[in-house]
Amino acid sequence: PTHLIDTIDLSKTELEEILERAAYWEANLDQPQPLQGKFVANLFFEPSTRTRFSFEVAEKRLGMQVLNFQTAVSSTTKGESLIDTVKTLEAIGVEAIVIRHREPQEIKELFNHSLQCAVINAGAGKWAHPTQALLDLYTIKKYFGNCQGLCVAIVGDISHSRVVRSNLWSLRAFGIDVILSGPPSMRDLECEQLAPYVPMDEAIRQADVVMMLRVQLERHDQQLFQGADDYLSQYGLTTERLQVMKPESIIMHPAPVNRGVEIAHDLVEHPKSKIFEQMSNGVFIRMAVLERAFGGIINA
Ligand code: CP
Repeated sequence: PTHLIDTIDLSKTELEEILERAAYWEANLDQPQPLQGKFVANLFFEPSTRTRFSFEVAEKRLGMQVLNFQTAVSSTTKGESLIDTVKTLEAIGVEAIVIRHREPQEIKELFNHSLQCAVINAGAGKWAHPTQALLDLYTIKKYFGNCQGLCVAIVGDISHSRVVRSNLWSLRAFGIDVILSGPPSMRDLECEQLAPYVPMDEAIRQADVVMMLRVQLERHDQQLFQGADDYLSQYGLTTERLQVMKPESIIMHPAPVNRGVEIAHDLVEHPKSKIFEQMSNGVFIRMAVLERAFGGIINA
């Protein structure tokens, strides 16, 4: 099986292959379903709307048999470990596992075992979210064509973001300059070894892509957030800041969006915003990733 752990494990060629196949699916959704009859289980131990349902749509579009694991009524509540859960699913015929977990170590541990089923990381704590980074890259490439030399500003709660970590590898592999900005209390020195921290207004002015991040209150273990109005005026994308963005620049956000916190309410649907298009693109990317898990392009 071909696992997907994080973007750091993918060469530029592999990234390109995934993007190309996603583009194929975007243009050919009516083509025969290559993964008919294959069993996949979606295990979401953390909440999700976009990733979970776009995986499910992708799986069904590929013809797969989809099992949605209900964590609250599963034997994990009796103390069964994640690896025993995965091996159990494997034993009853599941060939691919899509997993989201709050503890990256739980997902990393799976790869210390010899597994027959493919494992796809659908978000691991604040460590990695590879399919989000892939759909972000796809969205940028679709809009700009050539990515070399573009500047992407990732702005907001950097220190709690798995999206920024996975994006740093894939964006840089395509020759994209990444800059980081946001509240000083949410800076991340590890990320800043790969991309410089730039003051807010300068980052907005320089960027071809302004990628806003959600303030992840559920991961804060201390009071870093002083209220919505304060955050929006200091570090949010406001209509005033929109005026200094480059004419051809775009707005992105992995979502869910805290409207009125990191982005002004009305800018979510602004013509520059690709936020909902990112979600549509997520289905094509996940179709490509699922096919890759089964060895790549299969003729139905
Ligand atoms: N962007 C993203 O991962 O959204 P969900 O948490 O809703 O899946």
